[in-house]
Amino acid sequence: MVEGSYLDSVDFRERTDMTTIVLYDSAYGNTRTIAEEVASHLGGAAAVPVDGFDAGALHPGDLLVVGSPINGWRPTPKISKVLDDLAGRGLAGVKAAAFDTRVKLFIHGDAAGKMIKALKSAGASIVGGPMAFYVKGSEGPLLSGEVERAAAWAADLEAAQAEPREPES
Ligand SMILES: Cc1cc2nc3c(=O)[nH]c(=O)nc-3n(C[C@H](O)[C@H](O)[C@H](O)COP(=O)(O)O)c2cc1C
Repeated sequence: MVEGSYLDSVDFRERTDMTTIVLYDSAYGNTRTIAEEVASHLGGAAAVPVDGFDAGALHPGDLLVVGSPINGWRPTPKISKVLDDLAGRGLAGVKAAAFDTRVKLFIHGDAAGKMIKALKSAGASIVGGPMAFYVKGSEGPLLSGEVERAAAWAADLEAAQAEPREPES
């Protein structure tokens, strides 16, 4: 539990309208395609571009999936900024997962792992990832089979986030 978080005051056991947000950034549309595929397999989820993200829409019990292309071995500046802001607010009680899109290079760096680390530091419970999806070159397209892998990952997430959690003391 992040001390002093606005989330402290919300009793999420009383909420039945849990929200799933698949937040993403995307320069060429590949990460958006994966985000939309993941959202379409998570009942009632919305794929939300980073410019339209409202952190105030997140409540304890919700699921936040974050997707970013790797840009120079890290998430995009916009996704990094949102993660910094979320760290300030705290994500106690929020379930989270992260994926990146990347090229298949010998050395490609990582964004999903860094996003998972940031989400965990903000107090979120990690239910999936870090996960990677591959594009052919900077502009894509996604490699064959990646959209299907995204659907399978979403099914894993759905199962993982539905698992009963230990009651908070
Ligand atoms: C400025 C820039 C830096 C990039 N750096 C990396 C990198 O460090 N590692 C990597 O695997 N791909 C890198 N890429 C390739 C991106 O990961 C690729 O463009 C992205 O997955 C495409 O997703 P999008 O269509 O959603 O933008 C870079 C692309 C750009 C434009």
